[in-house]
Amino acid sequence: MKRLAIVLLLTLGMNAAHADGRKMAVPENAKWKEECSSCHIAYPPNLLTAEDWQKMMGGLNQHFGANAELDAKDRKDILEFLKKNAGNGPRHSAASLRISDTPWFKREHRSVSPKEWVHPEVKSKSNCSACHKDVARNLWSEHDVRMPGGKRWEEKEGDDD
Ligand code: HEC
Ligand code: HEC
Repeated sequence: MKRLAIVLLLTLGMNAAHADGRKMAVPENAKWKEECSSCHIAYPPNLLTAEDWQKMMGGLNQHFGANAELDAKDRKDILEFLKKNAGNGPRHSAASLRISDTPWFKREHRSVSPKEWVHPEVKSKSNCSACHKDVARNLWSEHDVRMPGGKRWEEKEGDDD
């Protein structure tokens, strides 16, 4: 009986820890979701600094080759939300204003080989959901990554070709 209790406790504890690790806390905001996920996924605000978001939101008419201009009120509201939830420090900043150029991103993805980035199903580092298949449910963990071809990351790692 005692043993069962311990096993139960351990299992429950592990599940809780696992669940926490899998969910990156991405805050919700209806306007941001609507306006910033029509051309690509809604990139999590914590992956870029407040200063970078401010610069980006100041140039939406020339947004990485696209025109993503908003009216003044929406721009202000979304910027406020992004700044409030922004990341901190140089590792979350890039002159290009791309999350995929930040030191944090490069380090986190250092084991991803160059050929995976140019795979026809991926094409661009900005195409997060090509590998992070479940970001609509905020599942960003490596356990939820499916590499091109559908392989789990853990399996891929041990793979030599
Ligand atoms: C009209 C289409 C469009 C809209 C609307 C749009 N974007 Fe983008 N965004 C793009 C394109 C195109 C790129 C470049 C993607 C690429 O290089 O593959 C991009 C790239 C980005 C990147 C850089 C991705 C990386 O590589 O790290 C961020 C961050 C970003 N957008 C944020 C936003 C935010 C915030 C909003 C809402 C205010 C928004 N976008 C709305 C078209 C759009
Ligand atoms: C080519 C596939 C691919 C693309 C595209 C990609 N990632 Fe990843 N990402 C991975 C892999 C694989 C890992 C796990 C790396 C490791 O553990 O060594 C990872 C790890 C992460 C992690 C950390 C997860 C954890 O468990 O700590 C985050 C957050 C993340 N990526 C965000 C992004 C964002 C944001 C984008 C788009 C701007 C993106 N990724 C684009 C494959 C990709």
